[in-house]
Amino acid sequence: MGFNVEKLIEEAERARRQAYAPYSNFSVGCAVLGSTGRIYRGCNVENASLSLSLCAERAAVANALCAGEKEILAIAVISDSNELCRPCGACRQFIMEFGENIIVIMADKERKYEVRKVKDLLPIPFKF
Ligand code: THU
Repeated sequence: MGFNVEKLIEEAERARRQAYAPYSNFSVGCAVLGSTGRIYRGCNVENASLSLSLCAERAAVANALCAGEKEILAIAVISDSNELCRPCGACRQFIMEFGENIIVIMADKERKYEVRKVKDLLPIPFKF
Protein backbone atom coordinates (compact mmCIF):
# COMPACT_ATOMS: atom_id res chain seq x y z
CA MET A 1 0.00 0.00 0.00
CA GLY A 2 1.35 3.41 -0.92
CA PHE A 3 0.35 5.07 2.34
CA ASN A 4 1.07 4.89 6.04
CA VAL A 5 -1.42 2.43 7.53
CA GLU A 6 -0.30 3.01 11.11
CA LYS A 7 -0.81 6.77 10.73
CA LEU A 8 -4.33 6.25 9.38
CA ILE A 9 -5.15 3.96 12.32
CA GLU A 10 -3.75 6.54 14.73
CA GLU A 11 -6.01 9.22 13.23
CA ALA A 12 -8.98 6.85 13.60
CA GLU A 13 -8.05 6.40 17.26
CA ARG A 14 -7.91 10.19 17.72
CA ALA A 15 -11.44 10.36 16.31
CA ARG A 16 -12.60 7.50 18.54
CA ARG A 17 -11.73 9.50 21.62
CA GLN A 18 -14.31 12.10 20.53
CA ALA A 19 -17.12 9.54 20.17
CA TYR A 20 -20.46 10.36 21.72
CA ALA A 21 -21.68 6.92 22.74
CA PRO A 22 -23.43 7.19 26.13
CA TYR A 23 -26.04 4.54 25.22
CA SER A 24 -23.93 1.70 23.85
CA ASN A 25 -20.67 2.71 25.52
CA PHE A 26 -19.06 1.46 22.32
CA SER A 27 -16.83 4.14 20.82
CA VAL A 28 -15.76 3.93 17.19
CA GLY A 29 -13.31 6.10 15.30
CA CYS A 30 -12.68 6.33 11.59
CA ALA A 31 -10.14 8.04 9.35
CA VAL A 32 -10.57 8.52 5.61
CA LEU A 33 -7.59 9.04 3.32
CA GLY A 34 -8.43 11.10 0.24
CA SER A 35 -6.47 11.19 -3.01
CA THR A 36 -5.18 14.66 -2.06
CA GLY A 37 -3.34 12.94 0.80
CA ARG A 38 -5.52 14.61 3.40
CA ILE A 39 -7.08 12.63 6.24
CA TYR A 40 -10.60 13.19 7.59
CA ARG A 41 -11.89 11.90 10.89
CA GLY A 42 -15.28 10.74 12.11
CA CYS A 43 -16.66 9.22 15.29
CA ASN A 44 -19.98 7.65 16.21
CA VAL A 45 -22.62 10.06 17.46
CA GLU A 46 -25.51 8.43 19.29
CA ASN A 47 -28.94 9.78 20.11
CA ALA A 48 -31.64 9.15 22.73
CA SER A 49 -33.75 8.09 19.77
CA LEU A 50 -31.38 5.16 19.28
CA SER A 51 -31.97 4.45 15.62
CA LEU A 52 -30.73 7.94 14.73
CA SER A 53 -27.21 7.04 15.85
CA LEU A 54 -24.55 7.91 13.31
CA CYS A 55 -21.66 5.54 12.62
CA ALA A 56 -18.08 6.77 12.62
CA GLU A 57 -17.51 5.69 9.00
CA ARG A 58 -20.39 7.72 7.63
CA ALA A 59 -19.35 10.75 9.67
CA ALA A 60 -15.79 10.53 8.30
CA VAL A 61 -16.85 10.00 4.67
CA ALA A 62 -19.25 12.95 4.89
CA ASN A 63 -16.45 15.05 6.34
CA ALA A 64 -14.15 14.17 3.43
CA LEU A 65 -16.80 14.95 0.80
CA CYS A 66 -17.76 18.18 2.51
CA ALA A 67 -14.13 19.32 2.46
CA GLY A 68 -14.10 18.85 -1.32
CA GLU A 69 -12.33 15.50 -1.51
CA LYS A 70 -13.18 13.83 -4.83
CA GLU A 71 -11.70 10.38 -4.33
CA ILE A 72 -11.36 8.13 -1.30
CA LEU A 73 -8.41 5.78 -1.22
CA ALA A 74 -8.65 4.14 2.18
CA ILE A 75 -10.59 4.03 5.41
CA ALA A 76 -9.41 2.90 8.85
CA VAL A 77 -11.85 1.91 11.60
CA ILE A 78 -11.07 1.25 15.25
CA SER A 79 -12.96 0.66 18.48
CA ASP A 80 -11.91 0.08 22.06
CA SER A 81 -12.35 -3.68 21.72
CA ASN A 82 -10.06 -6.68 21.44
CA GLU A 83 -11.98 -7.60 18.29
CA LEU A 84 -11.16 -6.02 14.95
CA CYS A 85 -13.70 -3.29 14.22
CA ARG A 86 -15.84 -4.27 11.23
CA PRO A 87 -17.96 -1.70 9.40
CA CYS A 88 -21.66 -2.48 9.66
CA GLY A 89 -23.58 -3.42 6.51
CA ALA A 90 -25.01 0.06 6.05
CA CYS A 91 -21.54 1.58 6.22
CA ARG A 92 -20.20 -0.94 3.70
CA GLN A 93 -22.90 0.22 1.29
CA PHE A 94 -22.12 3.85 2.11
CA ILE A 95 -18.39 3.41 1.46
CA MET A 96 -19.05 1.40 -1.72
CA GLU A 97 -20.79 4.46 -3.20
CA PHE A 98 -17.37 6.08 -3.60
CA GLY A 99 -15.49 3.16 -5.13
CA GLU A 100 -15.36 -0.61 -4.94
CA ASN A 101 -11.56 -0.57 -4.60
CA ILE A 102 -11.48 1.55 -1.46
CA ILE A 103 -9.21 -0.12 1.08
CA VAL A 104 -10.78 -0.80 4.47
CA ILE A 105 -8.44 -1.23 7.43
CA MET A 106 -10.10 -2.84 10.45
CA ALA A 107 -8.18 -2.43 13.69
CA ASP A 108 -8.45 -3.55 17.29
CA LYS A 109 -7.43 -1.61 20.39
CA GLU A 110 -3.88 -2.98 20.19
CA ARG A 111 -3.62 -1.64 16.60
CA LYS A 112 -3.61 -5.11 15.11
CA TYR A 113 -5.38 -4.86 11.79
CA GLU A 114 -6.79 -6.60 8.76
CA VAL A 115 -7.04 -5.07 5.29
CA ARG A 116 -9.75 -5.71 2.69
CA LYS A 117 -11.22 -3.92 -0.30
CA VAL A 118 -14.79 -2.76 0.24
CA LYS A 119 -15.90 -4.93 -2.69
CA ASP A 120 -14.75 -7.98 -0.72
CA LEU A 121 -16.74 -6.85 2.33
CA LEU A 122 -19.85 -6.19 0.23
CA PRO A 123 -19.73 -8.42 -2.84
CA ILE A 124 -23.23 -7.66 -4.13
CA PRO A 125 -24.04 -4.02 -3.33
CA PHE A 126 -27.32 -2.28 -3.99
CA LYS A 127 -27.20 -0.26 -7.22
CA PHE A 128 -29.66 1.42 -9.51
N1 THU B 1 -20.97 1.83 15.00
C1 THU B 1 -20.13 2.52 14.18
O1 THU B 1 -19.77 3.66 14.47
N2 THU B 1 -19.71 1.92 13.03
C2 THU B 1 -20.10 0.68 12.62
O2 THU B 1 -19.75 0.26 11.52
C3 THU B 1 -20.92 -0.16 13.49
C4 THU B 1 -21.44 0.48 14.71
C5 THU B 1 -21.44 2.47 16.23
C6 THU B 1 -22.91 2.79 16.20
C7 THU B 1 -23.25 2.81 17.67
O3 THU B 1 -23.02 4.12 18.17
C8 THU B 1 -22.26 1.85 18.31
O4 THU B 1 -21.25 1.61 17.33
C9 THU B 1 -22.86 0.53 18.74
O5 THU B 1 -23.56 -0.06 17.73
